[in-house]
Amino acid sequence: MQITSSKFHKSATEVDDCPDGDVPEFAFIGRSNVGKSSLLNALCRRKDLSRVSKTPGRTRLMNFFVINEQWHLVDLPGYGFVRTGKKDRNVFEEMIGNYFVDRKQLRCAFVLIDSRHSPQQVDVDFVAWLITEEVPFVLVFTKSDKLKPRAAKKNVAAFLERMEEFAEEPPRTFLTSSQTGDGRREVLGFIGQCLDVEGS
Ligand code: GTP
Ligand code: MG
Repeated sequence: MQITSSKFHKSATEVDDCPDGDVPEFAFIGRSNVGKSSLLNALCRRKDLSRVSKTPGRTRLMNFFVINEQWHLVDLPGYGFVRTGKKDRNVFEEMIGNYFVDRKQLRCAFVLIDSRHSPQQVDVDFVAWLITEEVPFVLVFTKSDKLKPRAAKKNVAAFLERMEEFAEEPPRTFLTSSQTGDGRREVLGFIGQCLDVEGS
């Protein structure tokens, strides 16, 4: 899979605002600051297609990007961000929840997890919820450039072990760095496979 064109399409604050039609889409979700926007930019080899910020919780909208004029990448707001206060948080959680439950165009969610940390409850809970809602997903462990490969693998293994409590099968996992491009080919290859299956 090569990305030959990428452009911003639209932002949405609720599922009803999301693009109509049957363009297949892939969504990036994960804690605030985990690297969703950076990964989207790295995949598209664009510096600032999606805004990367030093302030966690900057992305508050669902941002749709058209790739190769054929499919959508969606940059979702981060979960687990507390600074906006409880009221706002619930608004975000409802928006994200409705998105995953309602969005028929979603082919696969990419759940981003910081590879530097041992399993965090908020990520475990979110993944467990996706499974109960039968949303297809894979795990993307980010920022691999920030630690030794062995340490990252240990955190990946620990997360999969936590999932054994509630998941029948381990999900597919990727280890990525938006800084070095690690894992880029694998993620794009996976998206290509999903689209091929559909086209065949
Ligand atoms: P929100 O939109 O706030 O939820 O954040 P996000 O998940 O989109 O994270 P974003 O891409 O904005 O990145 C957050 C910070 O992490 C920025 O300072 C990035 O430069 C940094 N970052 C993201 N990915 C990587 C990576 O692979 N390696 C390193 N070293 N830094 C990264
Ligand atoms: Mg972002």
